[in-house]
Amino acid sequence: MTNNIVWHNAAVSHNERQGRNGHQPCLLWYTGLSGSGKSTIANAVDRLLFDLGCHTYLLDGDNVRHGLNQDLGFDDASRVENIRRIAEVSRLMLDAGLIVGTAFISPFISDRAQAKALAGDAFIEVFVDTPLSVCEQRDPKGLYKKARAGEIAHFTGISSPYQAPVAADIHLKTAQLSIEQAARQVLAYLQWCGVVP
Ligand code: PPS
Repeated sequence: MTNNIVWHNAAVSHNERQGRNGHQPCLLWYTGLSGSGKSTIANAVDRLLFDLGCHTYLLDGDNVRHGLNQDLGFDDASRVENIRRIAEVSRLMLDAGLIVGTAFISPFISDRAQAKALAGDAFIEVFVDTPLSVCEQRDPKGLYKKARAGEIAHFTGISSPYQAPVAADIHLKTAQLSIEQAARQVLAYLQWCGVVP
């Protein structure tokens, strides 16, 4: 694939972009079951950061599957490709100096490790830790009910595995936190590690 393709150096450097933004780029990689609250919390954090003047962008599972990844399903190979593309897009956004949020189930440890390998020190894993029983009780889209009835194949937590992080940078135990508290916990982490002033 790399035959006859030459890398071009950019005229505007990564550091120049970063300096103008007034914050470090980073990748907030939210992972958790369907219905765990990934999108809700990621949006709340995005709002806080945007209102602080940060340059942000949020990539959300359902939305990305309407466009860039509309050709992918939910079998293991499709999920691997889904996360690979998201990780590559995130890397471009990091290069542009953004604080990027990604809200995908991203159920496999190895895929998240690959995303981390691409993003380097900018990668921050956020475990949205909501027990399966709670997600299933919420069932905001009625998908767990369908999955239990055998109407959806490869449903995460029911007929497809979810490999929880073993050492997430940020562990949100959502049963004990409001959305606001969870978002503040993420912001506090970003301030503590110097991503935002
Ligand atoms: S993954 O595993 O990271 O590739 O999944 P993701 O791209 O985040 O997409 C998850 C959303 O797709 C809906 N959906 C399913 N989820 C899990 N398993 C199956 N089989 C499935 N089919 C559809 C579901 O609404 C997920 O949304 P969230 O926001 O996670 O609840």
